[in-house]
Parts: sequence; C-alpha cells; structure tokens
Amino acid sequence: MVSNIIKRIQELKKARNAVILSHNYQRGEVQDIADFKGDSLELAQQATKTKADVIVFCGVHFMAETASILNPQKKVLLPDAGAGCPMADMITAEQLRQKKKELPGVTVVTYVNSTAEVKSESDYCCTSANGVKVVNAIKDKEILFVPDQYLGDYIIKKTGKSMHLWPGYCPTHVNILPEDIERRKKEFPNAKVVVHPECRPEVIALADEALSTSGMVRYAAREDVKELIVGTEIEIVHRLTKENPGKKFIPASNKAICPDMKKITLEKILASLETLAPEVKVPEAIRVKALLPVERMLEIV
Ligand code: 13P
Ligand code: SF4
Repeated sequence: MVSNIIKRIQELKKARNAVILSHNYQRGEVQDIADFKGDSLELAQQATKTKADVIVFCGVHFMAETASILNPQKKVLLPDAGAGCPMADMITAEQLRQKKKELPGVTVVTYVNSTAEVKSESDYCCTSANGVKVVNAIKDKEILFVPDQYLGDYIIKKTGKSMHLWPGYCPTHVNILPEDIERRKKEFPNAKVVVHPECRPEVIALADEALSTSGMVRYAAREDVKELIVGTEIEIVHRLTKENPGKKFIPASNKAICPDMKKITLEKILASLETLAPEVKVPEAIRVKALLPVERMLEIV
C-alpha cells in the first residue's frame, strides 16, 4: 500500500539522515513526499545547504551529478540509475574539446543539463533561471553555448550578444508547437502564457514570459494570474494546482512529457533508501575541474 511505502520512506529518511530533493517535473506523489521541490538552480543551491548525509535526488542524472560535484563527502542517490537527460547526452566531452580547438580562446558556457565531464571542459555553467545573467556577466568576445540551441537562442535575443550554438535540444519541449499555443489561446482567451526557454523560438514568441520551472511557480502565484497556459513538462501542473487553489492551469501540450523524469517512483525511492544505491559519484579528477563553472553558476543569481 502507498501509505505504507510513504511511512517507511519517512522512517528510513530519519534513520539515514537523508534529504529528498524533487524536481518540478517529478510525479505528483514524489513531489508530495519531498523535503524540497525546485528548478535545477534551486536544487543545486539546496544541495549545498543541506546538513543531511544522504541526498536522494528525484530528478535526472545530471542533477544528481551536480549535487555530487558540490558535495563530494555526501552520498548522492538517484533512485533510478537510468534516469538521464537526452539533451545532456547530445554533446560529449570529446566533441567539446574538438570544438574548442576549432575556436581557440573561446569562452564555453554550458547549460547545467550536461554531463559532469562536459562541465569539466567549460568556463561557466548556467541554468534556465540565470542563463541571461551569466552571459551578461561575461566580458569575453567569443562565446560557445552548449548544448541547448533554443536556450542559447533565447539568451542571444535577451542579451544582444552573439554566441556559437551547439545544435542540441530537449526532445520533450520540442513537442510543444506554435499551433498548440494558438489553440489554447483560442480556448482560454483570458489566460496568460508561460513557456520554458527550452521551447522552440516560434513558441517562445507567442508567450507572455519564458521562465524556468520555478520562475513559473512564482508567476502562477501572482494576483493578476487566474488562468495560465503552461508550456513545459506537464507534471509541473501538479505543483501549480496544489499551491494555487481556485486557479486554472492548462498544459500547452499533453505531449510534453519527459519519460526520464517519470522513472523515479515511490517504490524506487524506498529501495534506494534501504540499499543506499544507486549512488552517483563524479570521479575526483573530473569533479575538481567541473566545480569552478558550477560555483560560478551559483554565484551569478
Ligand atoms: P528548470 O531548471 O527550469 O527546472 O529546467 C530543467 C529542465 O530539465 C528543463 O527541461
Ligand atoms: Fe532533459 Fe528535456 Fe527531460 Fe529536461 S525535460 S530532463 S531537458 S529531456
């Protein structure tokens, strides 16, 4: 029974001195048992603050790796070792090294949705919440942004800076099409529209705001927002609905589902607290190199 699983998770969490972090795209029942919910930036910040010995990361692999980069002394668990991010896998460290050779002296800004090894070849990391600020803070002339071409394009438009873009993309967010937004706007003419900056530029152009997932959480709480069309992974609607009774949240597309985020279940969280596995640990040689760009990401908020 679910209530027994939840009870056991709570008991083991205490016994292990563990904290459960959940990304805003996790299944509703996972969000509901988490100690902290957030976007990539907030979860990384939380991972630096926690006094727990064990971090149960309910998200995808790169997020658990970031927690491990920041906390080499803590045990970071990812309840399903196969929960990855296809966009993060669209660039390898070897491909990045090659690109840097082609563009000598280039400054590399890497979206946090990337492997630890790619981060270790980077100058700065950023998330969707602070990408514009990070790029604005860089005085260097030539910038390479990897791996998300759409977040990169959004940052170019916001900062007016030119950047080389790697052709990566999120397979979940590209499922949201301009016609989805147009249709929803016709159905809900009074609704505001927020989308994630991983969306296609034609989709972003139709929105009131492009925001990180926690940016959307804050936007939804605004008094003037009663109905909101939400252009991102559909599970965020669970949190928005729970935190804003009486308001209406409409997913822009029911096709915006991240299968990797759905791999984490209550049963797997319980199993990982019982066995203290699967653990995500970044090899020390990579970790020390990846730490600087990640720390820069946390400084510029
Ligand atoms: P946020 O940092 O906005 O939560 O986004 C993470 C992510 O993976 C979006 O697809
Ligand atoms: Fe990666 Fe997209 Fe899933 Fe986010 S929604 S974890 S970018 S595949």
